[in-house]
Amino acid sequence: MAETWFITGAARGLGAGIAEAALAAGHNLVVSSRRLEALQRLLDQAPERVLALHLDVTDEAAGARAVEAALQRFGRVDVLVNNAGYGQLAPFEENRPEDADKQFATNVFGVFNLCRAVLPVMRQQRSGHVFNISSVAGLAGMGGAALYCASKFAVAGFSEALSQEVAQFGIHVTAVEPGGFRTDFLDASSAQFGGRNLGDYAAFTAKVKASAAAGNHQQAGDPLKLGEALLTLAASALPPLHFAAGSDALKVATDKLKRSAAELDQWQGLSRSTDGLSA
Ligand SMILES: NC(=O)c1ccc[n+]([C@@H]2O[C@H](COP(=O)([O-])OP(=O)(O)OC[C@H]3O[C@@H](n4cnc5c(N)ncnc54)[C@H](OP(=O)(O)O)[C@@H]3O)[C@@H](O)[C@H]2O)c1
Repeated sequence: MAETWFITGAARGLGAGIAEAALAAGHNLVVSSRRLEALQRLLDQAPERVLALHLDVTDEAAGARAVEAALQRFGRVDVLVNNAGYGQLAPFEENRPEDADKQFATNVFGVFNLCRAVLPVMRQQRSGHVFNISSVAGLAGMGGAALYCASKFAVAGFSEALSQEVAQFGIHVTAVEPGGFRTDFLDASSAQFGGRNLGDYAAFTAKVKASAAAGNHQQAGDPLKLGEALLTLAASALPPLHFAAGSDALKVATDKLKRSAAELDQWQGLSRSTDGLSA
């Protein structure tokens, strides 16, 4: 059955791949971007099934208007893909406060804005699926990307809690944790570096930048295949709370679980030592 998918940041990268997959599967699409003209390619493929909207996810009122337009056109929203986001790639101290504000305004509060607008619709429908695109950087901390990791851990934690709140209404929530996917993520057109240069971090930051430059447009992950995987998850009766996308993501997640289990085990005596007050 045709569903209606609402995808943010759909003009390029993962959002475009997910949109292509959903379109090929016969679904209706509400695709949004800060650059409306860049959505024309999707619109041209199936004008009767695609609504293209201008949307900056940091603008809460615009998010509400976009969901209203989606309802006017298709009458429902079955799947929300909170995809829009970017990487603030610098060690914490080299970021300015405004770098942190912008990272969270987009990667975290942008997700909240769309959830605020879409969840009432899904509650009324008593069905829906929210995919929040987090990252492997939301599973394991990565030096040189403190703010990005903080934002994606926030998305993962939010998704876990939200899923417990909305399951009663038939709404599924999945935090998607991609590894490296071939998009503009590491490109100068998307990634942001810190606004401060501190001598102590010069060599470290040079490595972060060199690694981003070397990895740019070389990632193994295929955005279209991620879209196809999300179609499989959306059709599943019991979709996962977390989905690691890509072999690299699977390894990061598995290694992190092992490290966490070993650390808990090593310190379990001290962990238990803080009990003591009786009821
Ligand atoms: N590629 C990876 O390796 C990877 C891995 C893990 C997680 N992710 C996550 O995947 C998501 C998509 O990134 P990508 O890899 O596809 O990178 P990308 O090619 O750079 O695309 C980023 C998308 O986010 C949009 N965006 C950024 N800020 C926005 C805002 N304020 N309002 C609306 N749209 C905004 C961009 O819109 P414009 O076109 O208007 O700039 C663009 O469509 C992000 O959340 C990212 O953190 C990516």
